[in-house]
Amino acid sequence: MISCQITRMVHLVTLVLVLLTCMLSFISCATGVTKVNLASTTIFNVMAYGAKGNGKTDDSPAFTNAWKAACQSKPNKKSILVIPAGRTFFLKPMDFNGPCKPSSIFIQVSGNIVAPTKKTDWFGHHVDTWLSFNTVNGLTVSGSGKIDGNGPIWWKDACIGSPIPGTTCRAPVAIQFKKCNSLRLNGLTHVNSPRVHLLMTKCNGVIFSNLKIIAPETSPNTDGINIASSTNVNIRDSVIGTGDDCIAISGGSSNIKISGIMCGPGHGISIGSLGHGGFDVVENVDVRNCTMKKTLAGVRIKSYQGGTGYAKKISFSGIKFDAVWNPIMIDQYYCPTQKDCVTSTTAVKLSDITFRGIAGTSNMDNVINISCSKSVACTNIVVDSVYIKSAIPGRKVYGTCINAHGRASHVKPSLKCLIP
Ligand SMILES: *[C@@H]1O[C@H](CO)[C@@H](O)[C@H](O)[C@H]1NC(C)=O
Ligand SMILES: *[C@@H]1O[C@H](CO)[C@@H](O)[C@H](O)[C@H]1NC(C)=O
Repeated sequence: MISCQITRMVHLVTLVLVLLTCMLSFISCATGVTKVNLASTTIFNVMAYGAKGNGKTDDSPAFTNAWKAACQSKPNKKSILVIPAGRTFFLKPMDFNGPCKPSSIFIQVSGNIVAPTKKTDWFGHHVDTWLSFNTVNGLTVSGSGKIDGNGPIWWKDACIGSPIPGTTCRAPVAIQFKKCNSLRLNGLTHVNSPRVHLLMTKCNGVIFSNLKIIAPETSPNTDGINIASSTNVNIRDSVIGTGDDCIAISGGSSNIKISGIMCGPGHGISIGSLGHGGFDVVENVDVRNCTMKKTLAGVRIKSYQGGTGYAKKISFSGIKFDAVWNPIMIDQYYCPTQKDCVTSTTAVKLSDITFRGIAGTSNMDNVINISCSKSVACTNIVVDSVYIKSAIPGRKVYGTCINAHGRASHVKPSLKCLIP
């Protein structure tokens, strides 16, 4: 009898402890994904640093102070910066700078974050980035919050007349991670960035997952995710629909895995543009299990005329197209302005590029366009099990190549232009 009561009490105490842990850590215990050891964790709630979360008051000083405290906390403890639910935090452009003392920092984004609605709020700040994370290692940003870049003020008449002092015509990137190793970004919704939504530069060891990135099809340069000079990057299970590339991979990047992306509207998943006045290398890219819907391009590698370097070991597989304009494309004549387009005898060398297990429909008749440099051939281009039809029933489609070596098997439309 007594032992039974004691057992029950122990159960109750355990339950209370578990609940307490859940409440304190602000992490959904239901998912069971993140376990927090309270003894080794310090919590920094932005509200305790004076944030108002009313969507109007400038909360960036409070965020800066909370970040500084979290970043300079005890090295042997994990810091958790909490952005609580049910509130909207207005942030002016700001930096989250490292290096930090704890080996890992967790930012729990349960509330929403909004950018300025007036360009004058940018006065006195650098204007290339709204929220900038620099040299922070072991950073995890996770939660169900929404990050709104208030892009419309930048999209319209950006460069007409004389810009307000302190601002430039070029719209800022919403969030940049620079030199952040072991970076995780999970679960957030990103909307209406002024320009690129998420940019990583010089990062190593990155996982982005379960993101939603949304902006209008007509919004200029609002790439979903840009990967620049970064290595060991995994982007998966996300929905991206914007006015430009869903994901773009630029020079200096290697070991990139992309999977489970629903892309559209937008310009598809691109490597490049490479070779814009310099040496570029991209290596080991694996894009698989992605769906493109009504995108301007599907899977694409683009490089300017001129430039040097190479892109190799690139694989696109398990891709579905639904009414895509340029489904499969290698374009070594990239010239977005269509003005003063040069021809050059140097080019970024493309090799070991595979398109496998790809099917769907296109709004264009030329569904596979492999246009390599006339002076630097593409080599080992493999096109296998690729079936692309017109989105208009009964309409014929075709593929073309320039200076492309490789082999095609099980491809419709047939691709006879690849040179063995
Ligand atoms: C493919 O991606 C979808 C999301 O677009 C996901 O639900 C599914 O589990 C993925 N399949 C594999 C085999 O990874
Ligand atoms: C293929 O792409 C090249 C390079 O962008 C372009 O010049 C050409 O017109 C395209 N071919 C077709 C048939 O659309």
